[in-house]
Amino acid sequence: MCGIVGYIGDEEAVPVLLKGLKKLEYRGYDSAGIAVLGKSGLLVRKSQGPLKSLEKLIGDETARGALKGTMGIGHTRWATHGEPSDINSHPHTDVSGKIAVVHNGIIENHAKLKAWLVAHGVSFRSETDTEVAAHLIDFHYNGDLLQAVQEALKRLEGSYALGIISESDPDRIIAVRKESPLVIGAGKGENLIASDVPALLEYTRDVYYLEDEEIAVLYRDQVEFYSREGQKLSKEISHVDWDAGAAEKGGYEHFMLKEIHEQPKALTDTLRARIKTYGAKTINLEEIGFDASWAEANRVVIAACGTAWHAAMIGKYIFEHFARIPTDAEIASEYRYRNPIYHPRDIFIIISQSGETADTLAAMRMAKKSGARIIAITNVVGSTLAREADLVMYTWAGPEIAVASTKAFTTQLMCLSLIALQFGLLRKTTTEAALSGYIDALEQLSDQARKILDGKENIQRFASLQFNKAKVFFMGRLFDYAVSLESALKLKEISYTHSEAFAAGELKHGPIALVDTSTLVVAICTQCALFDKMDSNIKEVKARGAATVVITYDGVDYFDKTADEIFRIPRTLDSLTPILSVIPCQLYAYYCAVQRGLDPDKPRNLAKSVTVE
Ligand code: M6R
Repeated sequence: MCGIVGYIGDEEAVPVLLKGLKKLEYRGYDSAGIAVLGKSGLLVRKSQGPLKSLEKLIGDETARGALKGTMGIGHTRWATHGEPSDINSHPHTDVSGKIAVVHNGIIENHAKLKAWLVAHGVSFRSETDTEVAAHLIDFHYNGDLLQAVQEALKRLEGSYALGIISESDPDRIIAVRKESPLVIGAGKGENLIASDVPALLEYTRDVYYLEDEEIAVLYRDQVEFYSREGQKLSKEISHVDWDAGAAEKGGYEHFMLKEIHEQPKALTDTLRARIKTYGAKTINLEEIGFDASWAEANRVVIAACGTAWHAAMIGKYIFEHFARIPTDAEIASEYRYRNPIYHPRDIFIIISQSGETADTLAAMRMAKKSGARIIAITNVVGSTLAREADLVMYTWAGPEIAVASTKAFTTQLMCLSLIALQFGLLRKTTTEAALSGYIDALEQLSDQARKILDGKENIQRFASLQFNKAKVFFMGRLFDYAVSLESALKLKEISYTHSEAFAAGELKHGPIALVDTSTLVVAICTQCALFDKMDSNIKEVKARGAATVVITYDGVDYFDKTADEIFRIPRTLDSLTPILSVIPCQLYAYYCAVQRGLDPDKPRNLAKSVTVE
């Protein structure tokens, strides 16, 4: 996730910016840069790689005093538009190099704005959405930077936190936010901006939190606030009294819990740019070259490992449902040693959060040799998978730091749903008329996920009673079975509880022999057509002494008499339910690990990215 810092005061800006950026390193980034305004004008330095690379780049200049200046902005970038590179790193400048901009978020209409600016003679240097903002501000610049920013904002769509400085306006930093956090640090004779509080704490604990569409103008000795329309605002100062370590996790005890809570935003970010909202809502998947030629495909193969394979399994059901196309979900580590049969016109979808999983890459390379079209779904721009696949669809979940994958999974499902729906339209198995209802359902998922998170205390309470169970089995059918697999994996990897997942109909073919009074069975029951079947399965395990918990929809009382405990989730389409039903299970795994005194962010024997076989 990108980080922003900015400083105006009497100190040399470069060390302040570098210190601030270091405090934001925990967010994950692939490149860094600074812009300083000194006697010799605006100086921009940026570099791909860790902050150390930037420090090395500017080492000589700093030693010679060539980067002097008491005002500047800095950025750590986590690539979304354009691969990680020096040129794509922030700050970005206008054509004259007098205005510098750092940006977090996504400018959704950047392609349209870019075309418009190019038509007005502007030439672009990078592949980023951010560069549009620098040129747009310059386009509107008429001697007043604040006014130019206000004019530019009228054209920007999407989410942004922006830090802006200009050589022609040397005594102020302008900061803006919309749906991407930005904090103003109020010091004595100095003021700062940052995307997150830790970057400010060495200088001040007095902060202003910018609200959506507010603009801050920072001078050395004061800060002014304006609405987007230019109306002056007065804001309350807040005092930060927690420590920097806690702040890095956004106040959460662990990254895993933070990332579970980031899912509503990650879902919105992953969905939003792919929905065209003018006229009737439609899906736009130009990024994966989605066009009429897809209609020639006879089969989709989805390959992945671990959690991403569980997403693939759900993807299979979603593709079969919406697009009525034969779909296989393959475990990449198995697939690579098979002698699979390829069909001409197969479409391969390879899923990997990191884009670096060795087995997944091997499966992708095998499929590529067959001549199949390779589509990657990944969270990491510039990863090996992103570079080697023919086309890429990014999950815009932000960096996932905890080993246990959470927000990557739900955003992978979002991507798969979008492809399946678009494919369905093309194959005429989904109608235009039904599409807008499906898009509405996709759009509601973020709020529905938030609602589940709001009720997390109930799951925490349950985990505090059940965390020591010797065996926890998850069971379900179809979509619910796939979520059971993911839930069992989550629980075992971070709490070391013996947990397994069973297709509920398979119970009596063997697994039920394991059920006894030391067992907790979590039954995921979200498909109305299968309620009676699931109810029988729950009765079967109860009769063997198991404690039972059911995950089902709000308003469903079908299991009230059978289950010992019920967790409810908001209702959505069966095919989208895994995005919601997995959340209580993620929380349950997390709270069990914490109850057992374990660190969920660093489970034993596991690495975040499995880059070896
Ligand atoms: O980066 P990837 O999505 O390719 O990683 C695949 C698996 O290693 C990963 O999902 C793993 O199973 C997680 N630790 C599960 O939480």
